[in-house]
Amino acid sequence: MCGIVGFSGTREAAAVLIDGLRRLEYRGYDSAGIAVADGSAINMAKVKGYVKNLSELTHDGADIRGQIGVGHTRWATHGAPNDVNAHPHISSDGRFAVVHNGIIENYALLRQELTKKGYAFVSDTDTEVVAHLLEMYYDGDEKKAVMKAAARLEGSYSLGIICAGGRLFAVREQSPLILGLGVGENYFASDVAALVPHTKNVIYLDDGEFAELTPEAITVYDVRGRAIDKPVSKVAWDVEAAEKGGYEHFMLKEIMEQPACFKATVEPRIKNGRIEFENFDLSDQELRGIRRIVVTACGSAGYAGQVGRYVIEELCRIPVSVELASELRYRNPIIDSHTLLVVISQSGETADTIAALRECKARGARVLAIVNVVGSTIAKLADHVIYTWAGPEIAVATTKGYTTQVAVLDMLAIYLADRLGLMEKERYDALVDALHAMPGKLQRAIDLNRNIHKLAKRLCKYNDIYFIGRNLDYAVCMEGALKLKEISYIFAEAYAAGELKHGTIALVEQGSLVVSLACYEPLFDKTMSNIEEVKARGAEVLAVALEGNRKILSKADDVIFVPRTEPLFNPIAQIVPLQLFAYYVAKERGCDIDKPKNLAKSVTVE
Ligand code: F6R
Repeated sequence: MCGIVGFSGTREAAAVLIDGLRRLEYRGYDSAGIAVADGSAINMAKVKGYVKNLSELTHDGADIRGQIGVGHTRWATHGAPNDVNAHPHISSDGRFAVVHNGIIENYALLRQELTKKGYAFVSDTDTEVVAHLLEMYYDGDEKKAVMKAAARLEGSYSLGIICAGGRLFAVREQSPLILGLGVGENYFASDVAALVPHTKNVIYLDDGEFAELTPEAITVYDVRGRAIDKPVSKVAWDVEAAEKGGYEHFMLKEIMEQPACFKATVEPRIKNGRIEFENFDLSDQELRGIRRIVVTACGSAGYAGQVGRYVIEELCRIPVSVELASELRYRNPIIDSHTLLVVISQSGETADTIAALRECKARGARVLAIVNVVGSTIAKLADHVIYTWAGPEIAVATTKGYTTQVAVLDMLAIYLADRLGLMEKERYDALVDALHAMPGKLQRAIDLNRNIHKLAKRLCKYNDIYFIGRNLDYAVCMEGALKLKEISYIFAEAYAAGELKHGTIALVEQGSLVVSLACYEPLFDKTMSNIEEVKARGAEVLAVALEGNRKILSKADDVIFVPRTEPLFNPIAQIVPLQLFAYYVAKERGCDIDKPKNLAKSVTVE
């Protein structure tokens, strides 16, 4: 969704801002703009479409002079994507320009009030009210105007504000904003990806805080305008991690990175053969007080939770429910202090997930977050955090984010079962050994499927694809179907294989493709019967099965093999060829793989 960058230095700002916006393109957007102050006036350029259009319009920024500025990529919420609604928005007197992420919920009332006072609006956005509020409250002190304007806003917002005279402010309320400390220049951005080419030293702003940036210094203030000390953190990854590194798409690169990401997530948490989490350690009494686990998340993160549910229930015998965050938040949920709430999010900024977390925390749940982005809102709000060390995930469709989430859930299940005294030492050691083996298995899953593009070429013609499976296979079906639909735009849906007969099989006919996951061996024969049933109705069947399984060859039209692993960990290896399949189908169909239509990387609005 929207992206923000800000720069204060002694060189020309525009090129730095445009480069920063390029690094935020992956988040999904529909227009882009920059505003730069040259000490007396604000110079601005904004345009519908890609950052490349902005770059062409401004001759790579050369036409927009000044050394302090803000930039924005907009994902339309209020008002169509066009040049006028694109950010920045400027006050009528030309003194302030504003970029904004989030939603200002009381914008309609503010707009009415400002219109009555004679301020003329040119856009349909909620953001423009901020520019006019700044003008209204300006009495010679820009910092005061920023504070007064921010105090009038309700909703979620991060703001970048430049003043014609050259001052630069960043404001945060429930929408991420990170400050970057450079040498002789300073920066801010909504995402560290735009900061890492310049610096790894960052400050995470908290809600209600704002900052002023000059080339020499960053001063952070609390909501009352008092300067406060903030810790400086180090970003753990390099700029190369957010670049394609020779791959045609980020998605393919990120699929290939999964063995390394799994290792980075799991290995540091196994010390002398024991699983230890740096930020999650409950007393025996607290552990025994957990009556149920509620997992909440959106999209793929929720599907990782579905895998986790099977594994945790199997090993820990604690009831687990997986709840869509967008539903849980409004459901008057039955949650109390005996609930462990596991919140899963790659970005740590998903609006619905944050809201569900707040709702359940207020009802007494202990909150454990599984998050990829350090310093993100969910990481800050949770009682405990286990990071997935997947590095920056740029492709909109998650891959390594998902597998590392499942890795953490598997470790969590083993850890809890052991702490609850439910696991024999031999079983514990075997599972830990199996975790150590997983990076190799992930690599094998990639290597076994080097030719999957040929299959994709043949099967990309299908317009209805049904993913079926049982138990853990079913959980993987959900993610497999989502991967395919979001990047190839083919209708694909997951069904529990046993449910087919209760309705969905009515849709299966010649011209349907059924992807049957058949790795869960206790129910293999049942899945085989389901394959027979769909074949009898004319469907073509693509099966996913464990290496060495010969029985499947006579049943399915095509088979994707994955390596044998500890059975509970099968989903991690199984999803890899399904990611690759989705990738190559989307490629065959000429789709924009890294930035699928209508989707954004981090869904920061409801
Ligand atoms: C699908 C995908 C989304 C996200 C979902 C939650 O490939 O990426 O379904 O999983 O939007 O995002 P996070 O994990 O950032 O909370």
